Amino acid sequence: MSISNRRVTVPLTNRSYDVVIGPGILEQAGSLIRDAGLNRPIAVVTDERVEELYGQKLIASFAAAGFSSSLHVVSGGEPAKSFATAEEVSESLAQAGVDRSSLVVALGGGVIGDLAGFVASIFARGIPYVQIPTTVMAQVDSSVGGKTAINLGAGKNLVGSFHQPALVIIDTETLTTLGPRERNEGLAEVIKYGVIADRSLLDAMEDVSQQSLTEIVERCVRIKASIVAEDEKEESGKRALLNFGHTIGHGIESAAGYGKLLHGEAISLGMRAAGWLSTKFAGLQIGDYHRLIRLLRQLSLPVVLQDEIPTAAIMERVFADKKFHRGEIRFVLTSEFGSAFVSEKITRTDLESAVESLRESIA
Ligand SMILES: NC(=O)c1ccc[n+]([C@@H]2O[C@H](COP(=O)([O-])OP(=O)(O)OC[C@H]3O[C@@H](n4cnc5c(N)ncnc54)[C@H](O)[C@@H]3O)[C@@H](O)[C@H]2O)c1
Ligand SMILES: [Zn+2]
Repeated sequence: MSISNRRVTVPLTNRSYDVVIGPGILEQAGSLIRDAGLNRPIAVVTDERVEELYGQKLIASFAAAGFSSSLHVVSGGEPAKSFATAEEVSESLAQAGVDRSSLVVALGGGVIGDLAGFVASIFARGIPYVQIPTTVMAQVDSSVGGKTAINLGAGKNLVGSFHQPALVIIDTETLTTLGPRERNEGLAEVIKYGVIADRSLLDAMEDVSQQSLTEIVERCVRIKASIVAEDEKEESGKRALLNFGHTIGHGIESAAGYGKLLHGEAISLGMRAAGWLSTKFAGLQIGDYHRLIRLLRQLSLPVVLQDEIPTAAIMERVFADKKFHRGEIRFVLTSEFGSAFVSEKITRTDLESAVESLRESIA
């Protein structure tokens, strides 16, 4: 019943949009899109795995609401965020008669959201799109905020656009078909939100159930929405807080070789390192640092760095990363869970020590 759906508005000048959240709301997708005034022919972009799980349900919901729709399926995974796949999807849209009066619907994880959003931002010089995220990461993070991207050989997310969705539909029941490892890596991002913006979210993470997940997702979306509203295009620095754990985390993810560690697993290590630096330079209580580690371990996320990944390789990747402002490291620290700030005082040596601290095992 739509009555029980949760709704968060992302308040942007001229183009505010809603995020509707609830278990099982995929079946209402057609009516939610119609109610949002998006009465357009629909082109669904998804990947093979998600299509098999949810494609028919979604198409049926569109048909029931009187929409005509076409389906565009790509092979999933990070390689889909490429010019080649963007071209393949664009050709497929053109062949299906998609034009300026159409609507793209991205059904899937962050890869599909980034890819379909990117295509929607350039196809016919830009058409509206709706996000229907189906992974934890995509529901709490990537589907809200309008960043779209594909990768280049030179690095991830180097080509893209800001193109805000017209609506986001989050069915938390879709998370039940994720494997435990995939689910837990997404929950690493939830812990990130707790650290940077809402301490009580960390209490909720002590015991996560499918039922509590809907509320947890909603709270994360509220945080993301307010950060995006304040800093839509990553100009004021507010949006940078979302990078907590990501500077060192990305370095580890890349040094391990993409695919070895899932993104959220690398971020788990990155958050431990950022927590450690926060105790040294921001006055974070040691007890809070240990609590962070305990919460991560409870989700079976890694908190100890394996010897096979050398510190030098991680440092090299950290410095190749784009999150540097005129050569200075802009590092996100927390003095107290529930708030964070960007520091420019962290040196290369500090970062190295933080990476080394990850080799210490925990009793
Ligand atoms: N735009 C942004 O603001 C932003 C923010 C963070 C991350 N990202 C991007 O998101 C991407 C990662 O997204 P992801 O973690 O969702 O991975 P993903 O999109 O690759 O999905 C992971 C796997 O799960 C499968 N899957 C998706 N939903 C499922 C479900 N409900 N049940 C079973 N299987 C399902 C997919 O087919 C895929 O194989 C990265 O490319 C990253 O750069 C974007
Ligand atoms: Zn992340």
